[in-house]
Amino acid sequence: MWSDEEFRSERNLGLDLVRATEVAALAAGRWMGLGSRDNPDKEATEAMFNVLNRLYMKGHIVVGEKGKVGWDSPLDYDAAIGDGEGDKLDVVLDPIDGRSLLATGRAGAISVAAVAPNGAMWSPSNAIYMDKIVVNREAAAAIVPECMDAPAAWTLALVARIKKKRIRDLIVFVLDRPRHRDLIEEIRRAGARVMLRADGDVLGALLAASPESKVDILMGVGGVPEGLISACAVRALGGAMLGRLNPLREQEAEAVAASNFDSERIRTVEEMVSSNDIYCAITGITDGPLLDGVSYKGHHAITHSLILRGKTHSRRFIDTEHRLLG
Ligand code: FBP
Repeated sequence: MWSDEEFRSERNLGLDLVRATEVAALAAGRWMGLGSRDNPDKEATEAMFNVLNRLYMKGHIVVGEKGKVGWDSPLDYDAAIGDGEGDKLDVVLDPIDGRSLLATGRAGAISVAAVAPNGAMWSPSNAIYMDKIVVNREAAAAIVPECMDAPAAWTLALVARIKKKRIRDLIVFVLDRPRHRDLIEEIRRAGARVMLRADGDVLGALLAASPESKVDILMGVGGVPEGLISACAVRALGGAMLGRLNPLREQEAEAVAASNFDSERIRTVEEMVSSNDIYCAITGITDGPLLDGVSYKGHHAITHSLILRGKTHSRRFIDTEHRLLG
C-alpha cells in the first residue's frame, strides 16, 4: 500500500489517458461498418488530440503512423502533446487499432494510448514493421532472444513446458497475412492452435500478456507503433516481449538504414520501454474478447476501458456513461 506522502504525490495518469481513448472510441464507433478507414481515423485522432493537448504534461510522441496512414496527423512522430506543463513524458498512441475491423463492423477495434517517463521508450521513428513475440507473466521466463529465429515448435515447447500444458493446448495469435504463411504452417505442424485475426495485433499482445486469457502467445510481424504500445502494455502487465525491426519494403529498409536503426537487434520489453513507470489506457470501439465496444443509447453512450499501471501492475476496468451533446 501507499504511504500518505506517496499517495498524495502519485497521480494516476492512466485516469487522464483514458479520457483520450474514450473520446477517440466515441468518435470512431459511429463509423462502424460504414466502409471507411480514414474518416473515422481522422475524427478519432482529432478527438484524442483535443483531450491529450489539455493534459498536464510535456508529452513527446516517440513514434507515429505517418508512413502507413498517408495523411498528416497531429499525433505523428516528434509532435509535442499536452499543455506544456508538468512532467516530460514519452507518448505513443493509436486512436484506432484495427481500422479495417471498424470499417467492416468486425470485432476487436480498440483505441490505445501509453506514456512513460521521457527517454524511456525506444523510438525507431520512421520504421513501419517489426517482428514480435509476446507472452504473459507465467511464460515470461521461457522467452529468450533465440526464440526470434528458432523454429516456432521450439518456442512453443518452451511456453508449453513452463505453463504445464501440452503444445496442442496452446493458442497462438497471428495476423492473417500472406507473410505469415510459413509461420502458420510451422505452428500447425508443431500441433498448436492458431487464432488468425484480420487485424489488430495490439489486442493480440494484450490477450497474450493477460493472465486469464486463452491466448498463450503472439507471434509474427506487425506495425512498429503498435509494437511499442504493446511493449508498454506487456511491461505493465508483467509479461515478456521480443521485438526486432523488420522492414518489409525496400523504401522502409533504406529509411531505417539511413537513420542507423539496427534491424538485426532483438530487443526485450525492458529495452523497448526502460521504465516501469508506465500508464496505458485502452477503450473498446467494436466488441472484442477483452473489452466491449461503444454502445450509443440516444442521449448517452457507454464505453468500456482498461487502465494499466506498470509500477503496481494494476488493471482497472472502467465503464463510463457519457452524455452526448447534440
Ligand atoms: P491499423 O488500424 O492502423 O490499420 O492497423 C491494424 C494492424 O493490424 C495493426 O494492429 C498491425 O500492427 C498492423 O496493422 C499490421 O500491418 P499490415 O496491415 O500492413 O500488415
